[in-house]
Amino acid sequence: MCEHSFEPLKNDLILRTAWGHHVERAPVWIMRQAGRYLPEYHEAKGGRDFFECCRNPEIASTLTLQPIERYEGLLDASIIFSDILVIPQAMGMTVEMVDKKGPHFPNPLKNPDDGQYAELMKRDVDVGTELDYVYKAITLTRKKLAGRVPLIGFCGAPWTLFCYMVEGGGTKLFIETKKWIFRYPGATKAMLQKIAALCVEYLALQVKAGAQMVQIFDSWAGELSPSSFKTFCEPYLAHIADNLPRRLKDLGLDPVPMIVFPKGAWYSIDSVCNLAYDVIGLDWTHDPAEAVKTRGKRPITFQGNADPGVLYGSHESITEVVEEMVKGFGGGKKGWIANLGHGITPMVNPEDLKFYLQEIHRLTSMENSG
Ligand code: CP3
Repeated sequence: MCEHSFEPLKNDLILRTAWGHHVERAPVWIMRQAGRYLPEYHEAKGGRDFFECCRNPEIASTLTLQPIERYEGLLDASIIFSDILVIPQAMGMTVEMVDKKGPHFPNPLKNPDDGQYAELMKRDVDVGTELDYVYKAITLTRKKLAGRVPLIGFCGAPWTLFCYMVEGGGTKLFIETKKWIFRYPGATKAMLQKIAALCVEYLALQVKAGAQMVQIFDSWAGELSPSSFKTFCEPYLAHIADNLPRRLKDLGLDPVPMIVFPKGAWYSIDSVCNLAYDVIGLDWTHDPAEAVKTRGKRPITFQGNADPGVLYGSHESITEVVEEMVKGFGGGKKGWIANLGHGITPMVNPEDLKFYLQEIHRLTSMENSG
């Protein structure tokens, strides 16, 4: 139990699925389900800066609820409106969101001798106070949800956050990141460990505030070779999965299902199945049936994984892709949470997402689909 009392859940399908139970149909939610493809998002956001919306619990909770209300009865989870880059902000770095360009760090980490590195390494960051606005938004959202669906909390994985901190924003070549791992591996690992500890505390406090499940987004996991993944990515994902349940126990809180999304690192799936996560998010480069074979008898639920681009396609293509996915994941009565293989992209017609959700309901509710 978290420290607040909320209305009981009316739909706990995603939690049961994540814990490995047999279910009546596959639960579904969509990464980035609150966002730019929804006209009501732009309306509620108005002229406000993106991070200003994240810091305002009233607005953040309104944005979180928008897809739940628009797709009433079709979504089985909500995800708190925020961003993975709030951790670098809490650490003391400036991050701006530039319209149509994405995140920008005016002063990224240059090298281990740059004073900023030493400064960040020695600073004791209190994610309890620095990110208090996220916990407030979570508690308010739980109240507004009134038990309709569970609320997912999240953070960025250490590796992905490190990439942003050294690149200063999005990148195609990862030049700075590669300089760090191939010139300063020790300093890189020390920073990754520092971030991992902050992730554990931040997720625990999100659960305390009311988050019922958590997801760790490792959006840049696929930029590494299999051997670099073992060195710079996986140990820090493992640290979070091993330490979050302990921290929750210390705080007197029940465990929550943990989802990891190592985007692009298809080669790592066998090994990631051995970490302590309950759910592994798969991007669309995975063949579901192959992934299921690799998983074997291990008690892991998969999440995903249609190419988000199918939502630009015809309804016939959407049906085809959903049919393929349902078949590949074994029908949808166990071990699968339906989603896309990455966040929904701008310019998608919200009615086409509705069709995708309806097709998942239709094709996983059938008698013989499991
Ligand atoms: O509905 C939800 O899923 C909750 C909200 C959410 C946002 N960002 C809101 C957002 C979540 C879960 C995130 C996670 C996030 N943020 C990730 C991991 C997921 C992924 O896509 O890989 C990453 C890499 C970020 C960093 C980030 N934030 C980028 C690269 C961008 C710009 C490009 C983009 O795709 O929008 C953002 C901005 C952002 N985060 C927006 C939203 C709704 C758009 C802001 C706007 O223009 O209004």
